[in-house]
Amino acid sequence: MKTILALETSCDETAVAILRGSELLASEVASQIVEHEKFGGVVPEVASRNHLIHAPRLIECAKGRAKIDMLDVDAFAATSGPGLASSLMIGASIAKGLAIGFGKPYLAINHLEGHLLSPFFNNGHIKSNVSLVVSGGHTMSILVRGLGDYRLIGRTVDDAAGEAFDKVAKLLRLGYPGGPEIERHAGSGDPARFNLPRSMIDSENFSFSGLKTAVRYLLPKLRGDFLADLCASFQQAIVDVLVRKTIVAAQKHNVVLVTMSGGVSCNEELRRQLRDACEQKGFEFKSAEPWLCTDNAAMIAFAAMLKLESGFASNVAEEIDPNLALVSSG
Ligand code: KG4
Ligand code: ZN
Repeated sequence: MKTILALETSCDETAVAILRGSELLASEVASQIVEHEKFGGVVPEVASRNHLIHAPRLIECAKGRAKIDMLDVDAFAATSGPGLASSLMIGASIAKGLAIGFGKPYLAINHLEGHLLSPFFNNGHIKSNVSLVVSGGHTMSILVRGLGDYRLIGRTVDDAAGEAFDKVAKLLRLGYPGGPEIERHAGSGDPARFNLPRSMIDSENFSFSGLKTAVRYLLPKLRGDFLADLCASFQQAIVDVLVRKTIVAAQKHNVVLVTMSGGVSCNEELRRQLRDACEQKGFEFKSAEPWLCTDNAAMIAFAAMLKLESGFASNVAEEIDPNLALVSSG
């Protein structure tokens, strides 16, 4: 049974995981939210300095929790893109250094492939599916035919779904990240009170910036108690678009399985409504477990394990790529 140590440093979360076969021995995440909150967004240099501080500590922590020695690790993996160059470089350099030092393979993993495969973490083999990847940086619908066989169905033409949650939360003076804040307020709100746009509803692509602008123009006109209803109406507009497009794509591509991953898939309303729609239309549904939805290294270790088992290893000379693509369109 192989043991993999993986690092994820694509943005502002430093994460380290150790996976042995299908058993996750450790998964450590250090969030930098407080460091960036005061700047109103992620500052690349601050992020990379923090990765340098956190990563060695998290590796020691993960080793201790997993009760393993570095000599027990069969391969080292890291996210190689997409993401912030100066952040990606930290995790990739550490994994490459360890791989060279211990004479073991290095695996460069695409962050989006980590999300895409996470619904299968200890949950069956990779079979054909239409996959919705919804995070802070990406919104994609992908036809998955097997490991490494991905075809783009649709992607956002402007903001990602998570970005829309974050920007609207900022307009409403809620905290960062915005998704959990909006979901919390939406819980006691009426999703039908405000009629917000479902942009590009008949396209395979997505667009969320019009929705954000609609909230911006609506806000000054509102008086009294509106926060919960506005959060619920906004959240429902996003859920409607994501559910409808995913079901249409699954029907068009004739798959039996729908999967979902990425930070926004933590959203309980989205999980419930997509699960219900799949059940109604006769699709099987697998969503990444909530603890695997936001950025973590367990999903990177899992993708690396599948690749290692299929005989794949990367060259240590391989560079990180901030714009690394997962799929080709068409
Ligand atoms: O996958 P992720 O951790 O990072 C990226 O790869 O981008 O996703 C982070 C995004 C943020 O935009 C955050 O607001 C959103 O996921 N998010 C949510 C929820 N939890 C996190 N959005 C909606 N509802 C949530 N419960
Ligand atoms: Zn992510």
